[in-house]
Amino acid sequence: MTTNAAELKHIWQPLDIGPMRVDHRVMATGHTQLYGVDELISDRHVAYYRERAMGGASLLVLEQQAAHPSGMNYDQGCIAWEPRVVPMYAKLADAVHEFGTQQMVQLFCCGAQGLSTMFVDRFRPLWAASPIPSSVYNERPKAMEKDDIHELVEHFGRSAFNVMTAGLDGVEIHAAHSQLLGEFLSPAFNKRTDEYGGSVENMCRIVIEVGEEIRKRVGDEIAVGVRLSADEFLGEIGIRGDDFEAQLDVLAGSGLFDYFDISGGGYHTLHVAVAPMNAQPEGFLAPYSERAKEVVGHRAKIFVVGRILSLELADEIVGKGQADMVAMTRAQIADPHHIRKRREGRGDEIVNCAGINFCIERLVDNREVTCALNPVTGREERWGDGTLELVPPGREKKVAVVGAGPAGMKLAGLAAKRGHAVTVLEQAAEPGGNFNLIKQLPTRSGWQIAIDNLTRPLDSLGVDVRLNQEATPSSLEAGDWDAVVVATGATWSGSGASPYRPERDAIPGVDQDNVIDVGAAIRRAVDDPASLGARVLILDETAGDLPLGLAELLVDAGATEVEVLTPQLLVGEDTMKTLDMAYLFPRIVGKGVTLTSQYFVEKIDGDAVEVYDVWGGPRRSVTVDTVVLAQFKDPNDALWQSIRHNGFKEVHRIGDCVAPRKPAAVVYEGEQLGREI
Ligand SMILES: Cc1cc2nc3c(=O)[nH]c(=O)nc-3n(C[C@H](O)[C@H](O)[C@H](O)COP(=O)(O)O)c2cc1C
Repeated sequence: MTTNAAELKHIWQPLDIGPMRVDHRVMATGHTQLYGVDELISDRHVAYYRERAMGGASLLVLEQQAAHPSGMNYDQGCIAWEPRVVPMYAKLADAVHEFGTQQMVQLFCCGAQGLSTMFVDRFRPLWAASPIPSSVYNERPKAMEKDDIHELVEHFGRSAFNVMTAGLDGVEIHAAHSQLLGEFLSPAFNKRTDEYGGSVENMCRIVIEVGEEIRKRVGDEIAVGVRLSADEFLGEIGIRGDDFEAQLDVLAGSGLFDYFDISGGGYHTLHVAVAPMNAQPEGFLAPYSERAKEVVGHRAKIFVVGRILSLELADEIVGKGQADMVAMTRAQIADPHHIRKRREGRGDEIVNCAGINFCIERLVDNREVTCALNPVTGREERWGDGTLELVPPGREKKVAVVGAGPAGMKLAGLAAKRGHAVTVLEQAAEPGGNFNLIKQLPTRSGWQIAIDNLTRPLDSLGVDVRLNQEATPSSLEAGDWDAVVVATGATWSGSGASPYRPERDAIPGVDQDNVIDVGAAIRRAVDDPASLGARVLILDETAGDLPLGLAELLVDAGATEVEVLTPQLLVGEDTMKTLDMAYLFPRIVGKGVTLTSQYFVEKIDGDAVEVYDVWGGPRRSVTVDTVVLAQFKDPNDALWQSIRHNGFKEVHRIGDCVAPRKPAAVVYEGEQLGREI
C-alpha cells in the first residue's frame, strides 16, 4: 500500500443520491449474511453493519429482504413486508448513523431460485416470470398471473414503507442475478406473451410498477434504486449489452429511480456475479458501468461492483467517470475496517479478500456467513473493534509458536498485539503452511494474499519469525518459554484409506514408487512435471480444487492422459459452492482432463490401476505412470504428543495438527487462542 489514501482525488467527494447524501464514494452492495432470527434481522446483523459503518463505508446495503412470501429462499433469510420488521430496522439505522453512514435495504424475491418446500409451515409454489426451472434448484415454478403481479407489487410498496418508517435511507429493488425481477428482464427467463414480455418496455414493466408503488408509499423521502445485471454472460439467449442499454434507458426514462447499481451474471453464471479467486480481472464490470453512465446521463447515479479490491482502483473508476459510487463488497466482508485503516495509514493491518469465497460456500450451505481469513466477520459482537484485551503489565509471556501456517500466524499476530513477546519457529523456508502449496497451482495465486494478510503485520508487531528452524522437545526446553503453542499442521495421507472402503486400511499397491500423495505430487509437478509421466490418475476425496489444479498443471506441462476420479457424487463438489466450478471445469476439461465420479480404486499393480463403479457397475483397468492420492490429511501431532506432559508451563495445540480442516476453522482457532493466551 504505497499511496496515502487521503491523497486520492476522487473517492472522498460527497455525493447526493436522491434525498440521500453520502460522505464519499466507497460502499458495500447488498450481501446476504443469514443471521436472521424469526425472519427478522438480528443483533448479529446490527453488529455486522455497525462495524462496517465504523470501518468507514459511506453507504451500506442490507442483505436481500424478501418483499413477498413467495420470495424467501434461505432458512435464516428475512422479510420486509410486515410492520414487525420496523423495530430492528430502526436499531440498524441508529447503529450505522452513529458513524455518518447511510443504510439502504435491498428488496428482493427469489423467483425460480428457491424451493417450494423450503419452509415446513408454508410449502408454496415458486413464482417466476415464466415456468423455467432454475439450473441450481431445478424446480418448475408457476408463471405469475396478473393477480400475483399486483399482489407482489403491493408488497414491495409495503416493504419500502417499513424501511422509511424505521428511519433507514433507501431501498434497492433487486432486479439482477436471475432473481424474480431479474428474470422478467432476461430473455432467457421471460418467455411471456402478455404485457410483461416481448418488447423492452414490456420486460421492464414490472420493475416500473414496483418503482411506482414504492414512490406512492415513500414519495421522495428515501432513495430508491435498482440493481441490474448488465450482462448475464449467457451469450445471445441472456441479457447482453444492447438489451441492457435499452432497458436502462426505459428505466431511467421513468424518472422513478435515483440510481442503478450495475452488476453482472445470473444463476447460470454466478462465477461472474461473485467472481472467485483469479476468475475475473479487478474492476471487470467498470466498462459496463461506464456505458450505463453514458445511457443514463444525469437522470440517475451509477454504482459499480466486481472484484474491486483497492481504494486506488475505486478512485480511478470514479476519476474516469465510469461510476459515481464504487462497491468493494467482499473487501469489506473480509475486513470491516478496510477503508478506515487506509485512511489512518494502517493499510498493513488490512485483511484483504483473496476470493476464496468461503462466504458464499456458507450461503450455499444455508449457514451464517463468515470469512475464512477473518474470524471477526459475523462475530462482531464478540470480536469486533475494541474487544481485544491487552495483557496487564507484568503478565506478558514469552510465547513460542511452532508452525507458521495460518493458525500459528493468526495466533502470533494477535498475541503480540496484546503485548506478549512472540517467536514463531517454522521448519520450512517460507511461512504459509498449506497455503504455500495451493498458491502454486494455476488460477490459485490469490492464496498469496491470504499469506500476506498473516505475515504483513508481524514485523511491526515485533514477532520474531525464525524460518528453517525445526522445533524439537529439547530445543523448546532450552528456550525457557512461558507458553508453547503447537501449530504444526497436517500432511497428506498416502495410505488410500477411505470411508468408501471401511473394511480396509489401505489401497493394495500404495507403497509402490509410482503412488504419491497430492502434496508431494504438486511439489514435484512444480519443479519437474515430466517426472510424474504422461499418464496420471488422481484419486480425489477432497471435493476441492487441489486435484483440479494439479491436473491442469500436468496437462499444461505436456501430460496426455490425466484423469481425476472420485467415489463422490461429483468431482470437486465443493468448488460448486465456492462458485469456482463453472470457471475451473471448462478450463481443465477443455485441456483434455477426464473427470470421473462415483468410481473408486480397487488396487494398483505396477502401472495397472483397477477402478470400479461404486454402485456395482463396470470395472476397468487404467494404465498409468503415476497415481496421486488426494484424500485426507494426517495431523502432524508428534511434537505435541512428545511435549504435552513434559513440564512446560503452558502448552497449547491449534489448527490442523488437532484435526485437519478447512482454513476457516484453523484460522478461527488462531484468533481464539490469540485473544486468550
Ligand atoms: C456472501 C455474499 C452474499 C451476497 N448476497 C447478495 C445479495 O443478497 N444480493 C445481491 O444483490 N448480491 C449479493 N451478493 C453479491 C454482492 O453484492 C457483490 O455484487 C459481489 O460480492 C461482487 O462484488 P465484490 O467483488 O466487491 O465482492 C453477495 C455476495 C456475497 C459474497
